Amino acid sequence: MTKRVRKAIFPVGGLGTRFLPATKAMPKEMLPVVDKPLVQYAVEEARAAGIEQFIFVTGRGKQAIEDHFDHSYELHDVLTRRDKRDLLAVIDEIKLPAGAVTYTRQPEALGLGHAVWCARHLIGDEPFAVLLADDLILADQPCLKQMVDAHAGVGGSMIAVMDVPPAHTSRYGIVAPGSAVADPRLVPVQGLVEKPKPEAAPSTLAVIGRYIIDGSVFAELDRKQTGAGGEIQLTDALARLIGQVPFHGFRFAGERFDCGDKVGFLEANLAFALKRPDLAQHVKAFLPRYAAAC
Ligand code: G1P
Repeated sequence: MTKRVRKAIFPVGGLGTRFLPATKAMPKEMLPVVDKPLVQYAVEEARAAGIEQFIFVTGRGKQAIEDHFDHSYELHDVLTRRDKRDLLAVIDEIKLPAGAVTYTRQPEALGLGHAVWCARHLIGDEPFAVLLADDLILADQPCLKQMVDAHAGVGGSMIAVMDVPPAHTSRYGIVAPGSAVADPRLVPVQGLVEKPKPEAAPSTLAVIGRYIIDGSVFAELDRKQTGAGGEIQLTDALARLIGQVPFHGFRFAGERFDCGDKVGFLEANLAFALKRPDLAQHVKAFLPRYAAAC
């Protein structure tokens, strides 16, 4: 029987140089889309998928993330005295249950595979999720929940995938797909290459930052082999597991925004604002008016 996915890793050690100066003293994962930090969207998605243990792989300067998910005495006290019940509910909802959260550090930025490896003692031999907060997914049913449900049927490892323009393959892990299976959302993974040039890419099917990974990946990550960019790549360790455990790409329903990129981040802010009853009308009226005047 397939083991249930109970634990999730959030690699949040990256420097976020693409968003300087905003990220000089603030973690990039704390950048807000509308009024919620990126990392909170990822945590909420994991909770909606039934995750019980939240493991953050942090680094220097990431204290704000720990504080964000903790109890804030001053704020709680001020809001209570002012009788701001709606805001109290907002901050209470963010808190993760006691004992459900662990922070571990990645001492050096040696790659995504290395970040995941840093959490190896907290996982053990069971499938676990990895969520990259930069990839924000707007969906009726949260992306990881879609994947966990599909994973219960097939087990092994599973990665979220979507088609990207051929010119963009060098930004992603790219899948070499096997032949179609009964569930059209599932793509058997026959090969996996990290950031290939368009001419070397086996397809245009790209890995998006949601993974369910079989515990056996740690034996591969232990080898600390470096790949693209001289980094220890999660993609490479996963590729070496092909054939050992079932391995599927999952075409999720939803729209993904690359919030590690300025344009993607701005688009996410607009898309999420347009979904908000308190903001949608204003944004819709403002955009054409302002664009015409520019
Ligand atoms: C990482 C992974 C890559 C994946 C991407 C999704 O790359 O290494 O395989 O396609 O996330 O966002 P990064 O964006 O951290 O360079």
